[in-house]
Amino acid sequence: MADQREHWRRAYAGKREDEVGWYQVSPDTSLALIENSCAGTEARIIDVGGGASRLVDALLNRGFRRLTVLDIVEAGLRQAQERLGGRASRVQWMSADITAWNPVDPYDLWHDRGVFHFLTEKNERAKYCAVLERTLAPGGHAVIGTFAPDGPEECSGLPVIRYDAESLGRELGPAFKDAETILEDHTTPGGEVQHFQFTRFARVP
Ligand SMILES: C[S@@+](CC[C@H](N)C(=O)[O-])C[C@H]1O[C@@H](n2cnc3c(N)ncnc32)[C@H](O)[C@@H]1O
Repeated sequence: MADQREHWRRAYAGKREDEVGWYQVSPDTSLALIENSCAGTEARIIDVGGGASRLVDALLNRGFRRLTVLDIVEAGLRQAQERLGGRASRVQWMSADITAWNPVDPYDLWHDRGVFHFLTEKNERAKYCAVLERTLAPGGHAVIGTFAPDGPEECSGLPVIRYDAESLGRELGPAFKDAETILEDHTTPGGEVQHFQFTRFARVP
């Protein structure tokens, strides 16, 4: 993953938050699925590969108090921290590769927009799924956004695997039951429309 880390360092270098292809003013689809998971404000939520995403701001605004944002590089996390100012101290920030992460505490909600689809090697996906299974408490929910079957074949110069709810569910295995999918058209700052799917999975108790 050293190459991946270097790739993402370069992807953020010298760019403002709103100059990267994945920039979103408001993560509405993620928020809708998190709301539908019925997670209360005490829920432990992790945004995997959160970078500079504004999801953390929106969750703080909604009263969620136990938030973690994890990313393989610090550049995006720093942008989010600067934007949040004093509120950043209410969030736990982690710089780690999710496929090699050893979580200490369980979470009730796992959110990933745009990380899993970069895992093109079977062994990387197996590691991700093992961490997810270890980390998400029974009864918890995972919200995973990837490029849809008619989405781009690469992103930010890296190849991706495209998913629908069924193929993503097969990757996650029998401990996860797909509960709800929302399709989203993301328009990049450069004006390209990218088809995403977001599926909420319930961790089987
Ligand atoms: C396409 S961006 C999406 C950022 C954010 N989720 C959003 O919606 O704005 C992918 C993010 O995942 C991070 N990332 C890539 N591979 C990762 C890994 N193995 N572990 C943790 N983070 C990773 C990148 O650094 C980057 O911030």
